[in-house]
Amino acid sequence: MARQLPIFDIVPPAPPGGAARRPDLPDDGRLTEYLPDPRALPTFHLWTLGCQMNRSDSEEMAGRLLAAGCAEAASLDDADLVVINTCAIREGAEQKVIGRQGHLNRLKAARPGLRVVLTGCAVRESDRAGLRRRYPAVDLFLRPDEEPELVDRLGLASAQAAIGAIPTIGTVGTTTRVGRTVVGAADGLGATRAAAVAEGRVARGSAVSAWLPIIYGCDKTCTYCIVPFSRGPERSRPFDDIVAEARSLAAAGYREVTLLGQNVNSYGHDLPVEARFAHIATERWAGRRLDLGGRPDLAELIRAIDAIRTADGLPAIPRLRFVTSHPWDLSDRLIAAMADCPSVCEHLHLPVQSGDDSVLRTMGRQYSTTHYLERLRAIRAAVPGIAISTDVIVGFCGETETQFEATVELLHEVRFDQVFAAAYSVRPGTPASRLADDVAPADKRRRLNELLAVQESIGLERNRAWAGGTVEVLVEGVVAPRSHGHDEPTREPAAVPAVGQGSGAWVSGRSREHKLVHLAGGPELVGRLVTARIDHAGPYSLRGSVVEA
Ligand code: SAH
Ligand code: SF4
Ligand code: F3S
Repeated sequence: MARQLPIFDIVPPAPPGGAARRPDLPDDGRLTEYLPDPRALPTFHLWTLGCQMNRSDSEEMAGRLLAAGCAEAASLDDADLVVINTCAIREGAEQKVIGRQGHLNRLKAARPGLRVVLTGCAVRESDRAGLRRRYPAVDLFLRPDEEPELVDRLGLASAQAAIGAIPTIGTVGTTTRVGRTVVGAADGLGATRAAAVAEGRVARGSAVSAWLPIIYGCDKTCTYCIVPFSRGPERSRPFDDIVAEARSLAAAGYREVTLLGQNVNSYGHDLPVEARFAHIATERWAGRRLDLGGRPDLAELIRAIDAIRTADGLPAIPRLRFVTSHPWDLSDRLIAAMADCPSVCEHLHLPVQSGDDSVLRTMGRQYSTTHYLERLRAIRAAVPGIAISTDVIVGFCGETETQFEATVELLHEVRFDQVFAAAYSVRPGTPASRLADDVAPADKRRRLNELLAVQESIGLERNRAWAGGTVEVLVEGVVAPRSHGHDEPTREPAAVPAVGQGSGAWVSGRSREHKLVHLAGGPELVGRLVTARIDHAGPYSLRGSVVEA
């Protein structure tokens, strides 16, 4: 059983409406004669792997390509330009793309005009030479912080240039250092995002639920993790830019916004001190102890977004979420804001990684299980009924059987609603790559299976508590026949009847607690907040019927 972290390996979403996206045409039809012949411009396909941050970045890249006049191709095989937004969190994630190089090379041989761009977390400054070797079909490599340059670097900025002359390896953008390693600085991302939003150049994959990046990069010191080397140090977006983007999403009718960052809890520590934030004096941490007084924090930000109200005083964005939180700097101020703001959903993703303090120390997580459990008690007291999900790594360097059992014990003690578990995978250049990867692959697999089996019964019990009750569901889409959500574990028992068994169509969405809910109903429900009665509970999802649309 290979069950993976659900945030990885995202299947490219079908373009809204099912059709390939096309650039906007001018309102005045007479102007179309001045547009370049669309056939002169490449059609593109974006293949996005990895987490929500990559999905959000891909929305921005798609927006830029559409604005330059390119249209979306029907599939990867039909595209003139393939942009691969990679994930590097584990070796398997990188292998997925490395394994497609032969296919891409064959496509290029058949169509010499085809160009391939590789971006995302696999593109690290410290290893530009290695990239050529591992990804021989690729013409241009862009680090995550270089993605805003995509259209310029392809010579498409004028919407006129042919795709012929693409530099093979791009010029190097601004860099800085994480330890001794040269990384991209992520300095320009705040400004380029604000411009993309202002010019309507973000091609969002959903008209219901939106991603909103608030902080780029990561300053934490988790020894196993590649992210700080891929995405560079933390850079917070200016407070007002984020609130402005939230306001525009509210105006566009979005029902849900998820604030994104590798560690949203440290939002603001790198922003300038301002008089309007003078009341924020709580000590916070962000990889190191910092003077954080007078700067905005996540608590202040979610209060500001919650305060965007409709004429009748309700939150204009009914659902506000944020991922990911690090237990290290989950402040009392944030917990209070979550309790006070009606739009903030009753769900917190709080990765624990291990239930053993000495493993946590080797992982560089900077908290103990005692601290983690104390934070959970505080949040559960402030927000009764809150659902908690977590990430776990099994088989980290030196993990003994007893230490692994401590993690299983923690699962029993906390009773998480959902656990995303993975076996440790050595990432080149990380501090842990200098430790012995000494848990045998067979032991990693066994531990992973044991942990997932334990969680399956805990998840089922927790979900059964919802059976017979009612929940609010934001309907996100129609369930494709025989498919389960791309981000759901692969062993999901049939919560949705297979085609031919059940009657009619199914839609799916999430409850405020982030439970996946399948509902009998058609596409007219998509985008609506409905009240549903839960008829059936499985370990990973609920099934119900709409009682009030
Ligand atoms: N910033 C988030 C995590 C992003 S990565 C946080 O700190 O919570 C998502 C998850 O991938 C991590 O929580 C961890 O469980 C897993 N992960 C990261 N590096 C890994 C590695 N080298 N091997 C296996 N899993 C890893
Ligand atoms: Fe990686 Fe740790 Fe940063 Fe999360 S907090 S992205 S696990 S270094
Ligand atoms: Fe993967 Fe990068 Fe996200 S490594 S999980 S795409 S931050």
